[in-house]
Amino acid sequence: MSFYQDRIVPYLVHVSMRQEALVAYRQRVVSGAAGRILEIGIGSGLNLRHYDEKVQDVIGLDPSGKLLSMAADAARRKELSVELVNGSAEAIPLEDSTIDTVLTSWTLCTIPNVGRALAEMHRVLKPDGHLLFVEHGRSPMRRCGAGKIASRRFGSASVVVATSIARSGI
Ligand SMILES: C[S@@+](CC[C@H](N)C(=O)[O-])C[C@H]1O[C@@H](n2cnc3c(N)ncnc32)[C@H](O)[C@@H]1O
Repeated sequence: MSFYQDRIVPYLVHVSMRQEALVAYRQRVVSGAAGRILEIGIGSGLNLRHYDEKVQDVIGLDPSGKLLSMAADAARRKELSVELVNGSAEAIPLEDSTIDTVLTSWTLCTIPNVGRALAEMHRVLKPDGHLLFVEHGRSPMRRCGAGKIASRRFGSASVVVATSIARSGI
């Protein structure tokens, strides 16, 4: 991986994602999380401070080692059991039916094979588990219809938050 991809891109992701305009969306999606959480594309850990006492522990998955090291810093500032895993949502390294809540924010449209990733999320969720996500559903970007795919894959019972933030520029 190039120096730009390895070091600069993660920093740019962190700076763009920490904007204040996104906090209300984070609070809204994270407030629904309970039990054992798998956060897909945890990035620099900007959701961590919003998890409350309903949460038992968090597994954060991301393919970027640099972003995971930033998430580790965020985890140290929060009294919560957080395990960080380097990997892709297209091959989640967890057993079937072991997760209460899969949470993902502004990540679905960055995953090359989002159909495969959603099947993996479905596999690791317990039968009564929930997928919580926030996406830029009205964005003109090609893959940003991923939220709509997730809605079809999981059905209205499991998809709790599907928010468009197209106007925020993300
Ligand atoms: C726009 S950032 C959002 C980060 C974080 N969810 C947030 O809300 O701040 C997209 C994230 O998806 C991650 N990502 C990219 N491809 C992925 C994949 N195949 N599986 C899981 N995460 C992925 C990136 O490394 C990055 O952390």
